[in-house]
Amino acid sequence: MFAINGKDAGTPAAQGEPVTLSIDGAEVTVPAGTSIMRAAAAAGGAIPKLCATDTLKAFGSCRVCLVEVEGQRGYPASCTTLVAPGMKVKTESEKLRQLRKGVVELYVSDHPLNCKGCPADAHCELQSVAADLGVTTSPYGFDGANHQSAPCDASNPYFQFDPSLCIACSRCVRACDEVQGTFALTIEGRGFESRVVASQDEPFLESECVSCGACVESCPTAALIEKPLAIMGRPEKAVTTTCAYCGVGCSFEAEVKDEQVVRMVPSRDGKANRGHACVKGRFAYGYATHADRITTPMIRRQITDPWQPVSWDEAFKYAASEFRRIQAQYGRESVGGITSSRCTNEEAFLVQKLVRAALGTNNVDTCARVCHSPTGYGLKHTLGESAGTQAFDSVMKSDVIFVIGANPTDGHPVFASRMKRRLREGAKLIVADPRAIDLVRSPHVQADFHLPLRPGTNVALINSIAHVVVTEGLVNEAYVAERCEPAPFQKWRDFVSQPKNSPEALVEVTGVPAELVRGAARLYATGGNGAIYYGLGVTEHSQGSTMVLGIANLAMATGNIGREGVGVNPLRGQNNVQGSCDMGSFPHELAGYRHVSDVSTRALFGAEWGVQLEPEPGLRIPNMFEAALDGSFKALYVQGEDMAQSDPNTQHVTAALSALECLVVQDLFLNETAKYAHVFFPGSSFLEKDGTFTNAERRISRVRKVMQPLAGLADWEATAGFARALGYEMSYSHPSEIMDEIARLTPTFTGVSYEKLDRLGSIQWPCNDAAPAGTPTMHIGEFVRGKGRFYVTEYVPTSERVNARFPLILTTGRVLTQYNVGAQTRRTANSQWYEEDVLEIHPQDAEDRGIGTGDWVGITSRAGETVLRAVVTERVQPGVVYTTFHFPDSGANVITTENSDWATNCPEYKVTAVQAVKVQRPSDWQRRFHERNEQQLELLRGAKAAARSRQ
Ligand code: SF4
Ligand code: SF4
Ligand code: SF4
Ligand code: FES
Repeated sequence: MFAINGKDAGTPAAQGEPVTLSIDGAEVTVPAGTSIMRAAAAAGGAIPKLCATDTLKAFGSCRVCLVEVEGQRGYPASCTTLVAPGMKVKTESEKLRQLRKGVVELYVSDHPLNCKGCPADAHCELQSVAADLGVTTSPYGFDGANHQSAPCDASNPYFQFDPSLCIACSRCVRACDEVQGTFALTIEGRGFESRVVASQDEPFLESECVSCGACVESCPTAALIEKPLAIMGRPEKAVTTTCAYCGVGCSFEAEVKDEQVVRMVPSRDGKANRGHACVKGRFAYGYATHADRITTPMIRRQITDPWQPVSWDEAFKYAASEFRRIQAQYGRESVGGITSSRCTNEEAFLVQKLVRAALGTNNVDTCARVCHSPTGYGLKHTLGESAGTQAFDSVMKSDVIFVIGANPTDGHPVFASRMKRRLREGAKLIVADPRAIDLVRSPHVQADFHLPLRPGTNVALINSIAHVVVTEGLVNEAYVAERCEPAPFQKWRDFVSQPKNSPEALVEVTGVPAELVRGAARLYATGGNGAIYYGLGVTEHSQGSTMVLGIANLAMATGNIGREGVGVNPLRGQNNVQGSCDMGSFPHELAGYRHVSDVSTRALFGAEWGVQLEPEPGLRIPNMFEAALDGSFKALYVQGEDMAQSDPNTQHVTAALSALECLVVQDLFLNETAKYAHVFFPGSSFLEKDGTFTNAERRISRVRKVMQPLAGLADWEATAGFARALGYEMSYSHPSEIMDEIARLTPTFTGVSYEKLDRLGSIQWPCNDAAPAGTPTMHIGEFVRGKGRFYVTEYVPTSERVNARFPLILTTGRVLTQYNVGAQTRRTANSQWYEEDVLEIHPQDAEDRGIGTGDWVGITSRAGETVLRAVVTERVQPGVVYTTFHFPDSGANVITTENSDWATNCPEYKVTAVQAVKVQRPSDWQRRFHERNEQQLELLRGAKAAARSRQ
């Protein structure tokens, strides 16, 4: 797509018919639409350039790349001149050399080659072009007007802008426009006065810049540069790895010096991100070496006791003896485990194996329970596979993009940039969301339809859209007849065509004007390739699974599954949600979504693991909490998960955790759950281990170790050590052996190995004999389950109703700079952009309550009460308030209830009836939280001091 033979080819690749031309006497054939500059690179040459780079459209401003073309007057710029059949190009001549030299001497007059000590020394494009042309100084002198004293803007915590090093090439401006789609930069002024300006000439930190770093990466000099690079100097090596934040799964080169990350550079050949990144993955890695990291195993009898630092072996033995004691006393089913969507596939696989094989129970679950479990249910039932249908690249072939209950610019920013690029090319956009998310209106992007539905009415909305499709004759009859089961389709068609499902009948329920619904339905059904992208705004409802069924119904009815550009695509929140589900983390399924009740599946796993597996599904997370409160569930092993902050009804969760006799937490930090733990296994960050993550497009990518685990063991080694202490042998010498075991046991993974991942870069499962290189697009020709199956999706209002006592609906989400429970991002400079959770409230509701922006607001629900600062905004509709859950003391989940999806128990985070009133002080819960927090941090400080004195 970009480089040729690993070198910047100057302009992006083109797609046209082959064209043959001659460059410096050699014939070269390239696609029509290719620039002469790129054609020369394809022929093995290199034309000097400054303003061109192959990730951006040609601009033609620097005039360093001039060439001669036979039959043409003058000296055209090779970056902006396209090839033509039979063209004869000369890239080297004395005249060209003189012209180029003159241009570079002008640049050098304002940018002297004082390169020693510059962080870009030996990596600066101006320096290398000057050297190639033999320019060492400028004949124009350095005394004239120049920019040498322009002050450096160091406001951004991660990079700086030094205008004295800027050559006004505009690469940064174009990167912000074309790659990121934020349009935060401009070149102001002309000629000598030209200068780069952020927003309205503001410091970067205060501008619209979202710190994606695309401009920094595109800068040919050190004008825009990462601060650590400027301080630490050039890295010694680069290791290809995968971002540990969101489900986009961006690939990075981790550039390292002395086992310290100097910078993270998004991989240009990363198939999920194509060379782009966001502020989290590119910059917010400092948590990995934060002073809050715990690097010594710890144990204690009671959660009010001081922590005792111990060796790994002592920690394993203590945890194992407690688990065995509890099983002997309360029964085998009194224990369980929770796998993490932040850890690797191999680590999740080992935790569920430990629970099933070493502890002999199916009481294992994963945090996907509280996010995308309805996706698994809905897509498996309709299409036959619990995963999204496309590769991210597919969006570039979409004509209509339908975003439902997702906020990609905050939650999945790199994919959002790609989506926005496609929208700027002309694709249409429908957004169904209670809030006016950024995509509804942002620079050069405007939704054709925004359907601002009331929280909790998704199913009514999807039924009304389906009603329009069916009653207006927009069903793709040939597709349905060929690919779907006829009887369920007929049943669904009869159901959705009932008058009660018309947009007009449902306007009272959804709040969305009927003509908007009709317009959106017509556009999706008739606008060409229609692709649906959805998020937790779909799944985290009492009818989350019903809505996923409804989305799949709609896509099948319109023929929008089974090729590029279309599909049903869950945007997964955390880096390895897809993987932790694939790895058999649910209590009813073994790896590859095979039910534990299936005799042959149990026999296969039982033979490999040398045990007899239980045929009954185990407890889900909410059932574990209920059983703990009932007294029948007593011990839990939690890897990389923080239920005390992330799960709904915090007080219920912490009561359940307090009832456990042994809670083992494996994490980087003393998270909220660990404050109730008896054993702490120090975790390892993604920089400290080998493994794989699977992103939202089923793409398996390698995680590679760039530094030794700070606690001595990677997470998979700790799980294996715990298993051995339980008397169950796990003897892997490397995570590749765990993947080999997964491949032996899982039909969709049979072709996956580390060797193949190294060779191909990444693989989208299924990867097996039928698809040895993986499967970018699923359900081509037929669905995984054979015929697609429609389901009737009756709308059932949530029992969480507003009334006079709780008149508002609270819904939740996330912001770009923070991530999930914030354990990582809160320990980075990202908090400069977002340092507390706030409550968004509509001006009308705020005025009714005398609330202004910045006021403290008490929010009360049927579950509890908390206090947040208010932001009055029209982003939310009247009657709806909104917050995030990145900070533990804001207690967003103190107020969310235990209502959950009927099929999967995924909590209904998105709908909580609340009252909001102006208050002056924190809630009782917050006061108790702070006291408890201080007590637990004091106990930790004692343990850290004891560990230091032992060294
Ligand atoms: S960091 Fe990203 S958003 Fe900010 S100016 Fe650069 S390209 Fe634009
Ligand atoms: S900051 Fe860098 S990329 Fe931007 S115009 Fe200046 S030299 Fe070019
Ligand atoms: S988009 Fe997601 S995966 Fe990519 S860099 Fe940002 S957080 Fe990481
Ligand atoms: S590289 Fe062609 S004009 Fe700058």
